[in-house]
Amino acid sequence: MADPRFAPSPQPGVLQSRAYEPGLSADDLPAEVRREHRVVKLASNENPFGPSPRVREIGDRIYESLGLYPDPLGRRLREAIARRLGVPLEGIVLAGGSDLLFSWLAQTFLGRERAGVISTITFPTYRIVIHAAEAPLSLAPSRPEDDPRPFAHDPEALAERTAQGAGILFLDNPNNPVGCVLPRSTIARLLETVPPDVLVVVDEAYIDYVEDPDAATALPLLARHPNLVVTRTFSKIYGLAGARLGFGVMHPEAASLVNRIRLPFAVSAPALALGEVAWSDGEHYRRSREHVLGERPRLAAELTRRGWRVLPSATNFLTVRPPLPAARVCADLFRSGIIVRPLRGPGIDAYLRITIGTREENDLLLEACERLPLAAEEARS
Ligand SMILES: Cc1ncc(COP(=O)(O)O)c(C=O)c1O
Repeated sequence: MADPRFAPSPQPGVLQSRAYEPGLSADDLPAEVRREHRVVKLASNENPFGPSPRVREIGDRIYESLGLYPDPLGRRLREAIARRLGVPLEGIVLAGGSDLLFSWLAQTFLGRERAGVISTITFPTYRIVIHAAEAPLSLAPSRPEDDPRPFAHDPEALAERTAQGAGILFLDNPNNPVGCVLPRSTIARLLETVPPDVLVVVDEAYIDYVEDPDAATALPLLARHPNLVVTRTFSKIYGLAGARLGFGVMHPEAASLVNRIRLPFAVSAPALALGEVAWSDGEHYRRSREHVLGERPRLAAELTRRGWRVLPSATNFLTVRPPLPAARVCADLFRSGIIVRPLRGPGIDAYLRITIGTREENDLLLEACERLPLAAEEARS
């Protein structure tokens, strides 16, 4: 397949990296499935309610913003974030999605001699940005399946890796694809052990779904640890995954280093405007959060009753081991118009990740699960 006439060669990290495998979307479903079923997408942990309804009111503002370059510093949105979180403005960096921020952090603080440290079971984008920065990848084994905290980060293993020429430790808390959360006290202990020249990036994409986010967020640790970066996204509870917007809170010196390589117009004017509206709509935020906190135990109990193993979740998704092979279950649900995410990774292939949808979507999922053993029997016969 490779074209022998193509001569340019990539930097070596590119060859070690694998393209991100996106979750399936409605367009991937066969036409007859789309005709016969309502499509329920529970694969990418978006907010089933979408963005704040107030977003509809700023259509003209977005239209008018399009002809000019955006504010490269996103000052208004950063001010709003600084006010609410009680952090200094100079330490806030916006990006077109938090994954773009991971990439800028990797470009700034990694290199051939400075490894990126991650757990074996974690958000896959970290691997991509580490390879793209031509840095060695250092993997710390996640806890095993039979641990009281199945597949969770192992802070001691992570700390050990950072002792050996690391540049960044990326840690998602809560974790994706396993929805567990570490308390702030554990992150605090980890920060005491990691060498001060290693940047610790705590990715809090799902922090808003933790029962008690104040007890988990690493934000209060910023004052004591200049090497800490806390990232957040507008893609989950704020319902703006399509707009691409995220941010990091860090020491102003870290921010000024990132700003040297940050592409100035990487956050679009519509994304900035949408972010401002979403950030200010406390009602939509509360409604979205309460929905997940209510549906999460219901869905977990219903699936458990059907013989599924459901891992503890502090997020807007459940990581589950169905009583039938995961690939089969995925394919069966797919035929019912329901899209969930099969997982890949050491020991976790038997699991699926299911986003918590609207109540109606969750009921459709449960109904489809009810039919599963039957479908499995039919496939065997
Ligand atoms: C742990 C984690 N971090 C970050 C992101 C991506 O955030 P963004 O859409 O801001 O790039 C996700 C998205 O699934 C995630 O699961």
